[in-house]
Amino acid sequence: MRRYQQIYQQSIEQPERFWADQAKRIPWLIPPATILSYDDQQHARWFPDGEMNLCHAALDYHVENGRGDQAAIFWDSPVTHAQQTITYRELLERVATFAGALAQLGVEKGDRVVIYMPMIPEAVVAMYACARLGAVHSVVFGGFAPNELAARIEDAAPKVVVAASCGIEVSQVVAYKPILDQAIALSTHQPEAFIIKQRAQCEAPLDERQYDWDTLVSQASPADWVPVKGTDPLYVLYTSGTTGKPKGIVRDTAGYAVALAYSMEAVYDLAPGDVFFTASDVGWVVGHFYIVYGPLLRGCTTVLFEGKPVKTPDAGSFWRLIEKYNVTSFFSAPTAFRAIKKEDPDAQYLSQFDISSLKHLYVAGERLDPPTYHWLDDLLDVPVIDHWWQTETGWPIASNLPGIEPMPTKPGSATVPVPGFNVQVLNRDGQQANPMEQGSVVIKQPMPPGCLTGVWGDPQRFHSAYMAAFPGYYLTGDSGFFDEQGYLFIMGRTDDVINVAGHRLSTGEMEEVVGGHPAVAECAVIGIHDNLKGQLPVGLVIPKDSYTDGPEALEAALIARVREQIGPIACFKQVIVVDRLPKTRSGKILRKLLRNLADGQEVGIPSTIDDPTSVDDVHRAMCDHQVGSANKAPPLI
Ligand code: COA
Ligand code: AMP
Repeated sequence: MRRYQQIYQQSIEQPERFWADQAKRIPWLIPPATILSYDDQQHARWFPDGEMNLCHAALDYHVENGRGDQAAIFWDSPVTHAQQTITYRELLERVATFAGALAQLGVEKGDRVVIYMPMIPEAVVAMYACARLGAVHSVVFGGFAPNELAARIEDAAPKVVVAASCGIEVSQVVAYKPILDQAIALSTHQPEAFIIKQRAQCEAPLDERQYDWDTLVSQASPADWVPVKGTDPLYVLYTSGTTGKPKGIVRDTAGYAVALAYSMEAVYDLAPGDVFFTASDVGWVVGHFYIVYGPLLRGCTTVLFEGKPVKTPDAGSFWRLIEKYNVTSFFSAPTAFRAIKKEDPDAQYLSQFDISSLKHLYVAGERLDPPTYHWLDDLLDVPVIDHWWQTETGWPIASNLPGIEPMPTKPGSATVPVPGFNVQVLNRDGQQANPMEQGSVVIKQPMPPGCLTGVWGDPQRFHSAYMAAFPGYYLTGDSGFFDEQGYLFIMGRTDDVINVAGHRLSTGEMEEVVGGHPAVAECAVIGIHDNLKGQLPVGLVIPKDSYTDGPEALEAALIARVREQIGPIACFKQVIVVDRLPKTRSGKILRKLLRNLADGQEVGIPSTIDDPTSVDDVHRAMCDHQVGSANKAPPLI
């Protein structure tokens, strides 16, 4: 690991010099004179006086430099039986024209635009069009309920909302327009205009201030790109925190572009002209980085896939696409491979395709569990790379680094910190943990370029959520340890964030929704282990004495309530009505104990417990409801 060590040390010891070199990878209008500065709270601000435009760097620049006829996007949509190849030149034309349409509606630099779209080329066009104008986009994932969309509209206060009439799931067409209408009815902020991309599967009636995408575009003139400062925001992306209010993670422009350009080489080992297929969604951070912006900034082709790993139509989709588009690097979540493995354990589909173009397979979103790692490693002739990151950091914090020097893999480890990330593990006393000692994983300031620069509209929350716990360090919210060789193992969250099918959700938020039901006296929502989705939420509920309709009715009502208020993506399908919950004498619900019970693990009864017999009651209820592995739990007391 000598080469890696050398580069890593330089990035930590001389960050300004290191990132000044990396900044040469992107086209600037005005190159930065200042590489790193700090705001009044001592948070890093990269390239503050440089000027550029990300749309220009990813599209205009490549068209001007001979890539106009290269494919920028391969769109593959098994759910609509459609495919499209869009060249850099065509994409630039579509983006410039849509930017013109947005400008016609009054969108200017700094204005927000909410984008609520499935995996269609128009989503990418809308994102780049915002970047072109210097407007700040906020993409909202399609699986959220109106309430969640409303919370994001309310917080981001967009001038315009861009949506599609529908998204298409495995067995249903999800009409987006009624969800949008309900969200607008719930929001106190009212956008000035709406642009709707009509899809043949479900056309939406349009009201006043609602424009048809195609008509608007046919009347628009192309808009030129607007120079922005390095620290101007490019987008806000909401993610689950510990409360019901999602956090709007703010990403700047130039730091983001430099981090993207660097990671495309160091982490993903991709050259211009290569094909990158990231099977995620534009509504998640992975989609922003490695479907939309990263590949095009590097002059690669991106695969935009409107489908699932299974059932659209079968467990061979990924392999089919890798062959068809000559994919160089492929990236998805472990849960997607568990879904494939479940349907096609012997990988019969794989044998039908030639995937020899593939150089690397990447996974993230949750820990790559060793059984899935071994299944993939046995199956494929390419390195299987687990890498760790979060919406906040925006790009991988730890990874194997084939673009620097490939390293031996250790199952269960995300390998080593990526240059720029000074990752440390702190114990309870805030001291550096020893090798193999688990603790809080933190990143010493300054964070490298590309990481969050704030929480939208809430500087205090940025500080309290991430910076206050260990002054001088960013708190990742994950626990983990380094081994003797410096390999990092990420073991799980220290807060109530859970990962369901690679989607980040907050059990705290679910508790707020469940607890808000008039019949609920008290509740706890916990994340339990699931073989397919990694984790699943389970609600434990004590009804009010006045409630008389029976447990089944309440359980069904609460499941429906979470689906309505958070969305189907929460996968909240198990609720158990109980008489009491195990608590400490000071009244704190013992959530860890509940999780261990549900996962069939040994349960330590803390001495502070108020009533030990409550544990037996809950355990019995879990077994009756066949929750997780509760029936495998060892005898309790
Ligand atoms: N729009 C509307 N609804 C959506 C949606 C979207 N974009 N995405 C998911 N949903 C709905 C699903 O239809 C499902 O609804 P249902 O309860 O009516 O069946 C529900 O939300 C749960 O979806 P999901 O958890 O995705 O379950 P699934 O059974 O449809 O698919 C997997 C399971 C594992 C195949 C799928 O979750 C997957 O591909 N995960 C990978 C995720 C990923 O790439 N994450 C990004 C990190 S890299
Ligand atoms: P998100 O912000 O949705 O990307 O979720 C980030 C969280 O997912 C992290 O804080 C981790 O808890 C988890 N995560 C993502 N990638 C990995 C990984 N490779 N290994 C372990 N946990 C991961």
